[in-house]
Amino acid sequence: MLSYQPILVVTDSITRVDVRTATSDSTILIGNGLAGNLPALLDEHRVGRRRFLVSSPTVWKHHGETVRAVSGDLEPILIPDGERYKTLASVSKIYEALIRAGADRGSVLVCVGGGVIGDMGGFAAASFLRGITLVHVPTTLLAQVDSSIGGKVGVNHALGKNLIGAFHQPTLVAIDPLVLKTLRRREYRSGLYEVVKYGVIASRSLFDALTTRTRAVFAQDPDVVLPAIIESCRIKADVVSRDEREGGLRRILNYGHTVGHALEAVTHYRRFLHGEAIGYGMLAAADLAVRRGTMPETDRAALARLIQQLGKLPSVSDLSIPEVIAAVKRDKKVVDGTLHFVIATGIGTTATIDDVTEAELTEVLVGLGLPR
Ligand SMILES: NC(=O)c1ccc[n+]([C@@H]2O[C@H](COP(=O)([O-])OP(=O)(O)OC[C@H]3O[C@@H](n4cnc5c(N)ncnc54)[C@H](O)[C@@H]3O)[C@@H](O)[C@H]2O)c1
Ligand SMILES: [Zn+2]
Repeated sequence: MLSYQPILVVTDSITRVDVRTATSDSTILIGNGLAGNLPALLDEHRVGRRRFLVSSPTVWKHHGETVRAVSGDLEPILIPDGERYKTLASVSKIYEALIRAGADRGSVLVCVGGGVIGDMGGFAAASFLRGITLVHVPTTLLAQVDSSIGGKVGVNHALGKNLIGAFHQPTLVAIDPLVLKTLRRREYRSGLYEVVKYGVIASRSLFDALTTRTRAVFAQDPDVVLPAIIESCRIKADVVSRDEREGGLRRILNYGHTVGHALEAVTHYRRFLHGEAIGYGMLAAADLAVRRGTMPETDRAALARLIQQLGKLPSVSDLSIPEVIAAVKRDKKVVDGTLHFVIATGIGTTATIDDVTEAELTEVLVGLGLPR
């Protein structure tokens, strides 16, 4: 069971959460309107003066004016939108822009965008001159509560997702929930499933707030969204601070991801947004926990209700159970043949089990709506 110790300071309207790992520290700042105040924030936190912006055309179109002062006269480095550009070729373009502009060890890379820009720019920062300072300004909900925190950076290879990467903690993560207003609705909803995940693994109060205030969450009411993001960041920061390299505890962040990743893989990453697949994955993990007698049925039902409230998930009724099980087995979390499956033992607490059988998994997948 996780009992987290918040490392939290609230000043004026900025909340600060610290990530402390054996090798480096990182500061997360969360506040409405932060994006318009970045140069001052970076100065205040003594982040180097020569700052390079990495972003994508879509994000730049919406928020370029707000953030451009960060890099002074330097042009932003824009990489086309989309997962298919999260490659070494794009990283190479970032190196090239840095070298041409005379970047040195004291330079700073500021990534403004979703998880794709953050992972890719983060990898460029981790490797350029053996590592330069990294700042994340995440602009999707998923990036704000998940990918910008924890120091995992990397790119895809033609033969698989996220196969090339490193750990490189950002010095600063500046989270402004107001930038989410321009996000497509489906992208925003997809990020919400990760917020639900934090509720299930570590915070009953977060779970309850999402359940009772779903409308306000959809309307992006700052009174609800800001605290939900803060609580999510606090949980991730705490887990990462105790287990940066995924020795054990960090695995709880993979709640819902075993089946979720398999559903994404068998549909070739085209049918589901990541969070939607995790929605199914959490339902599967809850069903498994109820079958094992470790989670009360009332909690499973509450989770199923919340997921339903968040909207319709893409159909799974045409997917093949043997294919999904094969994908679960291929998942990189299968270490030495044992399948580590994170299950919740109730809303707010989790456990890991490593002896899930195919027969159990089959029943769970039938429960999700896959044909027997
Ligand atoms: N490093 C980690 O720990 C970690 C964790 C989870 C996911 N990830 C990675 O994150 C990536 C997914 O990130 P994502 O879901 O943010 O997708 P994304 O970065 O592709 O962004 C989704 C879309 O939203 C657009 N967008 C971003 N911000 C916007 C805004 N404010 N307004 C309008 N449009 C905006 C983007 O241009 C893009 O088209 C995957 O590559 C995944 O592997 C990494
Ligand atoms: Zn995820």
